[in-house]
Amino acid sequence: MKYKDIINKMTLEEKASLMSGKDFWQTQDVERLGIPNIYLADGPHGIRKQKDAADHLGLNPSIPATCFPTAATVANSWNEELGEKMGEYLGEEAVTQKVNVLLGPGINMKRSPLAGRNFEYFSEDPYLAGKLAASMIKGIQSHGISACVKHFAVNNQEERRMSIDTVVDERTLREIYLTAFEIAVMEGKTKTVMSAYNMLNGEYTNENTHLMREILRDEWNFEGVVVTDWGGSNDRVAGLVAGNELEMPTTAGETNKEIVAAIQAGKIKEEVLDECVDRLLDLIFTTQEAFNKPTKEFDVQNHHQMAQVVAEESIVLLKNDENILPLPKGKKVAVIGDFAKEARYQGAGSSIVNPTTLENTLESLEEAGINSIGFEQGFDRYGKKNNTLMKKAVALAEKADVVLVYIGLDEVTEAEGLDRQNMSIPQNQIELVNALYEVNPNIVAILSCGAAVELPFVNKVKGLLHAYLSGQAGAKAILRILAGDVSPSGKLAETYPIRYEDTPAYHQFPGKEVSVEYREGPFIGYRYYDTANVNVLYPFGYGLSYTTFEYTNMNLSKDGATFTITNTGKVAGREAAQLYVGCSSDAIFRPKKELKGFTKVFLYPGESKTVTIPFDDKTFRYFNVVTNKWEIEEAEYVIMIGASSADIRLEESLFVEGTGAPLPYEKEKLPSYYSGKASNVTLAEFENLLGHKVPEAKWDRTKPLGYNDTIAQCQYAKGMFARFAFKAIKFSHSFLWKIGKRSTANLIMMSVYHMPFRGMARMTGGIMNMPMLDGVLMIVNGQFFKGLRHVLRERKKMLKAAKGEGIINASSSSKGEVL
Ligand code: BGC
Repeated sequence: MKYKDIINKMTLEEKASLMSGKDFWQTQDVERLGIPNIYLADGPHGIRKQKDAADHLGLNPSIPATCFPTAATVANSWNEELGEKMGEYLGEEAVTQKVNVLLGPGINMKRSPLAGRNFEYFSEDPYLAGKLAASMIKGIQSHGISACVKHFAVNNQEERRMSIDTVVDERTLREIYLTAFEIAVMEGKTKTVMSAYNMLNGEYTNENTHLMREILRDEWNFEGVVVTDWGGSNDRVAGLVAGNELEMPTTAGETNKEIVAAIQAGKIKEEVLDECVDRLLDLIFTTQEAFNKPTKEFDVQNHHQMAQVVAEESIVLLKNDENILPLPKGKKVAVIGDFAKEARYQGAGSSIVNPTTLENTLESLEEAGINSIGFEQGFDRYGKKNNTLMKKAVALAEKADVVLVYIGLDEVTEAEGLDRQNMSIPQNQIELVNALYEVNPNIVAILSCGAAVELPFVNKVKGLLHAYLSGQAGAKAILRILAGDVSPSGKLAETYPIRYEDTPAYHQFPGKEVSVEYREGPFIGYRYYDTANVNVLYPFGYGLSYTTFEYTNMNLSKDGATFTITNTGKVAGREAAQLYVGCSSDAIFRPKKELKGFTKVFLYPGESKTVTIPFDDKTFRYFNVVTNKWEIEEAEYVIMIGASSADIRLEESLFVEGTGAPLPYEKEKLPSYYSGKASNVTLAEFENLLGHKVPEAKWDRTKPLGYNDTIAQCQYAKGMFARFAFKAIKFSHSFLWKIGKRSTANLIMMSVYHMPFRGMARMTGGIMNMPMLDGVLMIVNGQFFKGLRHVLRERKKMLKAAKGEGIINASSSSKGEVL
């Protein structure tokens, strides 16, 4: 142990006190031993340090910080160097704001396009997500502070996010859902990992020793700190045993006492606690060093400029018929769409950043050299039909040479705590594009949203530029691409399916009650579409440029693939080249091809560069469930170099020696997996893959509600009061929605709705404790008066104890904090 001397001087209570927060964002300090508290703050694409009232839903404002493009956007850059640079900028701002741990990047896989936080995550591909996350972590941590990769793991839906049990087979877990984390830990060397709210195969991730000890610590040698997601701790002692150092936010000392009691009763050894304290102290002391230098303000303008550079490399040109873009100089341009007036540039929830400044499209048109003949709003942002707006827009479009129509999803639809209900953009926007097309076929749509949407209007537009959520400088970056100052080089980090029904998890997303079954196995994203031959609108890895590239001269060695890229067009540009691997043997089912490397090059017209994409430990491996190890199957592999997953330019095969492991599967028992048509797997076949029965997926409505049941389950509670409370929540949600308070309705109501009862004690900073919660549960379960008496009695006890004992962790800042 590195901090043995200090730990030896600490009392048991002092050690336990470090294991949960002092308040909403800070860790506990121990003044007499010179242990300071440290500050944790969101979030992935900017710093959200709240000055006053704290919350984890992004409701209360934070100190202004640069709002970079969100991860879904940055992933389209396919540029690790850029990711690292962005990380450096984030790290610098974090140091300026005295933030020790920056709660990002978020790297969960995009299992379904409807998952509410997709905008915060990188990709449907673990390799791409892992590499970009690792580079960002390196950048952030180059300033001495810590990144915090999240949410570990299989946190892929918002519905019942704090309690849902994810049922997934071990191979899929390893190959799809953990590989990005593995790269972030082993290559990015993240100092902190955030455990996820959900369960994994029947155990809360934070207590899951397979995940937290066997994989994270033993296999990946992670020596840093695991912090719970906010309010995500279930059994504090079980969490500690699994290696969780820090529970956030504060529980006002309640769970510290549980640790002390477990040690005193001999349930766990004190060394388990000491190890956790040692690792936490390391995080505290090493990240504090970052603040030893005199603080200087960051260069706001320079950081804004960097946000623009990141956006410029991440925006994706999806369609450019008749080379409608870049806009020729002097053409009369009509600018239409609410998103041109007010850019959609980030998502909602805990990642929300208060930007230092915000570029505005309409104010920047002239500077961009775009000859605008006017602006019309065209549609109501929140989907209400408005013929007047539409007519005015059509009238303007009639007079223009080219129409720029800014469309997308609103702020309320893409939010933490809430999955999307469908894959469409609002109907009024589609109708607008159709109407514009009737009067002017020269339409360029600029799309702003953080996840895949259906594009039924795509044949009505000649140009389609996907801006994703491009941060505070996004509006300007878009204009520079439209005007041709920058050649687009973003490529999709997720597939755009034609319809939602085509997606592989369609039948199994989201889990609504106890569990969610990942029946599609490893066939998510392009792994599914490609293998099952399902047509898509835009494939993974796809994106156009204002120039063209030729791929030639492929050479394979045992270390990697070397080839030449030439810019064969008329302007300079960047190209992201992708290496995919397929296996010619069908002894073990696999996706037709999988991304195993990529590179991005900048080329002037006529210029060529020879590049090598190296092979690594992930190129040929698969996870064998019999040996419980990564193995290599001896076979002929096809190495493909593509401009996208569907545009393979060069390919060669390579024989690779295997590790000689026994074959893990009986082929006839897994027909859907062997054919790759895994979107509608039967329960029996899924159980064959899992190797055991799945747990009951439905609530047992006859059982009384307990700590881990959610407030939504009050709908069938025995207590009338609870059923009434459920109706009141539903009513307030629709009421707030109707009066236009949509974000508040969604964020508060959905977070409350899906919160387990234990959250009442874990998230109120000492206002309620677990014994009081027992009383609440009595009320919920039909014993109103007994429960009420219990709550009041326990509250009295709690207050007396807090006063009398002077408890270690009496929260200093519970006031002003919301759930
Ligand atoms: C989110 C985390 C976030 C934390 C603190 C949670 O609700 O899931 O991503 O870092 O709140 O705001």
